[in-house]
Amino acid sequence: MKKILIIHYSQTGQLTDIVQSVTAPFKNNETVSIVYENIKPKPAFPFPWSATQFCDVFPESVEGIPCEIEPVQFDPNESYDLVILAYQVWFLAPSLPITAFLNSPEAKVMNGRPVLTIIGCRNMWLLAHETVKQQIIKSGGRLFGNIVLGDRTNNLLGVLTIAIWMLSGKKKMFFGLLPDAGISDKDIHDASKFGTILMKSLKNNDPESIQETLNMHGAVTVVPQYILFEKRIQRIFKIWSKFILRKGERGNPARKFRVRLFLGYLFAAIAVIAPVSTVLSILAVKFKKDEIQNAIDYFSKNIV
Ligand SMILES: Cc1cc2nc3c(=O)[nH]c(=O)nc-3n(C[C@H](O)[C@H](O)[C@H](O)COP(=O)(O)O)c2cc1C
Repeated sequence: MKKILIIHYSQTGQLTDIVQSVTAPFKNNETVSIVYENIKPKPAFPFPWSATQFCDVFPESVEGIPCEIEPVQFDPNESYDLVILAYQVWFLAPSLPITAFLNSPEAKVMNGRPVLTIIGCRNMWLLAHETVKQQIIKSGGRLFGNIVLGDRTNNLLGVLTIAIWMLSGKKKMFFGLLPDAGISDKDIHDASKFGTILMKSLKNNDPESIQETLNMHGAVTVVPQYILFEKRIQRIFKIWSKFILRKGERGNPARKFRVRLFLGYLFAAIAVIAPVSTVLSILAVKFKKDEIQNAIDYFSKNIV
């Protein structure tokens, strides 16, 4: 009997659907037992968000300051054959509930275990995954594979539709006038192919990373210009997060003004800076071909 622990958090249910799809091939299989652990932030984050609430999680996300979570239900001393960690990205970092789990004593459950990560995000996950990989290694886990599902619409349209979704709760956009927000139903449904690959590897007791096989089925796509784009944005995010944190912790009214300033910056960045930066990144990719190719290889191989 193979024992799998699946740790995940999802606000809208999108990542839950992805996890269900990936694990569909395990279901009704008597050789596999699955324990689902749904990480519960205390108190829960609001959905839909107000614009201020959305930006108020920004500094802690960027700085990796965990939120409070409810005690977990699984036994951290149990030896699982595979740990699956499914997470989403908040401001180029793992979401706060996942940061909280990774920093909790229960993260030791990954010690000596293969860990498969599943990311369900908009499209920018590279730097968040660097943090998550380091945390897995710190807990003694072994990077076994990574699967990334993201929004396939172009970057600027994707920012707009996800902002409408997060702030209104509506994923369907204006009777089809804009593409639906988030990851497509088809991509979520097709993610079961990764479960089949996992199942085979578990049956064969294959201890090696299965990243190469997963990638042959489209598990990880690295968009070259985001390699530069994310690094550039993160540098600016770090300045803003420190600036806001100087006025206090999440929810502190003293920092409300700075949080609103950041909201203004975010609007300006999306409307003006992002299009210019996208063009610059496309040009830079052309001039830094070798460096970019090395980075693509690194990010797709899921190594540290
Ligand atoms: C506060 C916040 C910040 C986000 N920042 C990013 C980001 O930097 N990169 C990205 O690709 N997606 C980002 N997203 C989208 C999420 O990764 C995710 O796709 C979405 O919230 C749905 O996830 P769910 O399964 O928790 O509902 C952000 C979402 C939220 C709520």
